[in-house]
Amino acid sequence: MNISVVGTGYVGLVTGVCLSEIGHRVTCIDIDEAKVEKMNNGISPIYEPGLSELMTKNIEKDRLFFTTDHANGFYNADAVYIAVGTPEKEDGSADMKFVKQVAIDIAIDVSKDTVVVTKSTVPVGTNDKIKEVIQANLVNNVRIDVVSNPEFLKEGSAIEDSFNGDRIVLGSDSEYAANLIEEVNKGFGVPIYKTDIRSAEMIKYASNAFLATKISFINEIANICDRVNANVEDVAKGMGMDKRIGDKFLKAGIGYGGSCFPKDTKALIQIAGNVEYDFELLKGVVKVNQKQQALLLDKLNERFDSLEGKRIAVLGLAFKPNTDDMREAASIVITNNLIEQGAEVFGYDPIATDNAKTLLSDKMVYEGSVEAAVEGSDATLIITEWDEIKHVNLEVFRSMKYPLVIDGRNCFSLDKMKEVGIEYHSVGRPT
Ligand code: UGA
Repeated sequence: MNISVVGTGYVGLVTGVCLSEIGHRVTCIDIDEAKVEKMNNGISPIYEPGLSELMTKNIEKDRLFFTTDHANGFYNADAVYIAVGTPEKEDGSADMKFVKQVAIDIAIDVSKDTVVVTKSTVPVGTNDKIKEVIQANLVNNVRIDVVSNPEFLKEGSAIEDSFNGDRIVLGSDSEYAANLIEEVNKGFGVPIYKTDIRSAEMIKYASNAFLATKISFINEIANICDRVNANVEDVAKGMGMDKRIGDKFLKAGIGYGGSCFPKDTKALIQIAGNVEYDFELLKGVVKVNQKQQALLLDKLNERFDSLEGKRIAVLGLAFKPNTDDMREAASIVITNNLIEQGAEVFGYDPIATDNAKTLLSDKMVYEGSVEAAVEGSDATLIITEWDEIKHVNLEVFRSMKYPLVIDGRNCFSLDKMKEVGIEYHSVGRPT
């Protein structure tokens, strides 16, 4: 089928590339000319394992195109995917201005019956509004149906998730449209669940809110484990053996970051508030996460009277491994605070340094390796559990002024750290 994808951010680009991989002819549309030119040459604007390879392959097979021209992009499309951003507004609600603009563009440019598929995470009721906006601005006499198709990919494993996901959710009030988009997705070999539009929109928010709740829950358990000398990893394992609970997303640490959980949890609180429902549980989840992002600072401040002039190494800056995404990363809160307290901060991340430079204090010093960041420091903080950091030779910490490691992601074995003689504090595990 002929498919257009509007917006080549993380969701749009991965969606477009994967749809071309299963044989569709896909045109990705973006307003950023320089980015479009790069993508036409097979260069991915984001770091995502396997993405560039699939881009190059499908461009060569003549079924993946990038353009800035809407009309050209929509020409002959059987389905137009909306995958533009819905940034967080000051009050926590999602900003729909980009989605609305695409709806107007579609209304002006489509020239045949088209199914509009919403990939962007949008508040309940938005797809109905998209339909209204398109109908109100429609230039040609064509039929437009709307399908809500929320995205469940994880950054860093998006390609793998596309072909091995747990479900594809399609919400529509048109059987014809739902069936057409089911056909589009068949090649992924992932179970398809069809429902109404509003339930599909809600599934996305409820899923992210539930996963965020699991994380904040286990982080609170970890904080209690810290105080009663229990081991949160054993607790999570024992809990996870109960199939009703499941063992995923029970990894304690310094909270969740990224472009989704922080934004979507706040948006759902706002959605509930709009219908006069106080989502108390989710408010607690958000509050716990803010507290948890500062955990390493609390542990460090307990250990030193003052951080003035102390050299602190920070390992890992991205919000999680295998991505260069720095959005809502705990490293932002942590490094800003360290610098405010007068510490000298030496950071290392395998790939997120360029993005970090645009977000973190210009007083940060960036090093090219774990070794260089750690050498001569008074303390090392671990923020992101990159494989490279988890598998580092522990002897490296001996090059510090004093070997003190405070680990926000439980990267190392307690026994090994003891063996090597490193003072080691982690999250919810006995010291
Ligand atoms: C998340 C969801 O997992 C995806 O299903 C969803 O499609 C996506 O948001 C989205 O809405 O677009 P993502 O933000 O890429 O995906 O990353 P996750 O792997 O879910 O991790 C999110 C954060 O939670 C990270 O900071 C990670 O370190 C943290 N986390 C995750 C924990 O602290 N503990 C865990 O057990 C799992």
